[in-house]
Amino acid sequence: MRALTPELLNKIGNTPLIELRSFSSSDVKILAKLEWFNPFGSVKDRAAYWMFKDAEGRGLISRGKHVIIEPTSGNTGIALAGIARLLGYEIEIVIPEKVSEETKSILRALGTNLHETSDDLCPRVGVGTDQSISLAKAIARARPGKYYMPNQYENDANFLAHYEGTGPEIWRQTSGRVTHFVAGVGTGGTITGVGLYLKERNKAVRVIAVQPQRQHLIQGLRNFEESNIPTLFERRAVVVDEWYTITNEESFKMVKELYERERLLVGPSSGCAMAAACKVKERIESSVQVIEDGDGGRDREKVIVVVFADNGRKFRSLYNQQGVFSSEEFDDALRNALMLGESFF
Ligand SMILES: Cc1ncc(COP(=O)(O)O)c(C=O)c1O
Repeated sequence: MRALTPELLNKIGNTPLIELRSFSSSDVKILAKLEWFNPFGSVKDRAAYWMFKDAEGRGLISRGKHVIIEPTSGNTGIALAGIARLLGYEIEIVIPEKVSEETKSILRALGTNLHETSDDLCPRVGVGTDQSISLAKAIARARPGKYYMPNQYENDANFLAHYEGTGPEIWRQTSGRVTHFVAGVGTGGTITGVGLYLKERNKAVRVIAVQPQRQHLIQGLRNFEESNIPTLFERRAVVVDEWYTITNEESFKMVKELYERERLLVGPSSGCAMAAACKVKERIESSVQVIEDGDGGRDREKVIVVVFADNGRKFRSLYNQQGVFSSEEFDDALRNALMLGESFF
């Protein structure tokens, strides 16, 4: 357990990028960006911090005066709640009731006031189905001088966190060798921010978005056939070259495989993104053309970078229900996993 101290804010970003050796070949490497190394445990620390700084910078919020309210399926809530505590703001979170109990208890432990809705796992956008978003907006509208809703589904600071942070990190960490970028889509901040930055550095980089099946169990991601497209994603959707749809079964199977082969205990959305990354690798390998260059050498190697948004700590009950890990196996995994990082919870 990590203490909640102000220097945590300086530790957002600069997460490790590691090669998944057992999944890589000499021609195609798969590298994972371990976002759970962020101080509040997920990729959403980046967006949450940028949204806070943006609102403070523009004079929209001041401590002691404003209450932050946000609809979220968990990780943004945890990040906003942790940062709010450190910066001295009160916070309320509107959350779908299906979100894991572990996530809700972390939020409560951070002093958050929770409003639960009967929404899907990632709040949907669009009238009628967007209960979390509608409720948060209704509360914020009722007391405009009191509440501020960052709204990760529309706020460009969410995109900028990745365009100016995650994207350049990946470029530097791969020395510009990245050829494919794979990420799951919730608000679309990660895929559009990183995708656009990488394409500006090298327009040949392929940007691959991942969605879970309809009626999925993957906290943080959304299926675009059953929920509307967030404005934030829509603004830069052209950056995506292709989509993969991954089933619950494929995602959970990959969670298990990542533990067995790499000793990594990942969250469900990482299993989902990794299942897609493996399909990308297979496709590259099956269509590999050995291009001779002037020296008779081979085409450059392919480097797939995949985002692992959070680790498995919060998913004991889900993994139990889904038969991924029994309680004993989960305890073993918590003890034996590599690179699990520290956690404040
Ligand atoms: C676990 C997890 N994975 C992936 C994502 C997707 O990130 P983004 O909102 O940047 O599309 C989220 C977002 O909430 C998440 O919580």
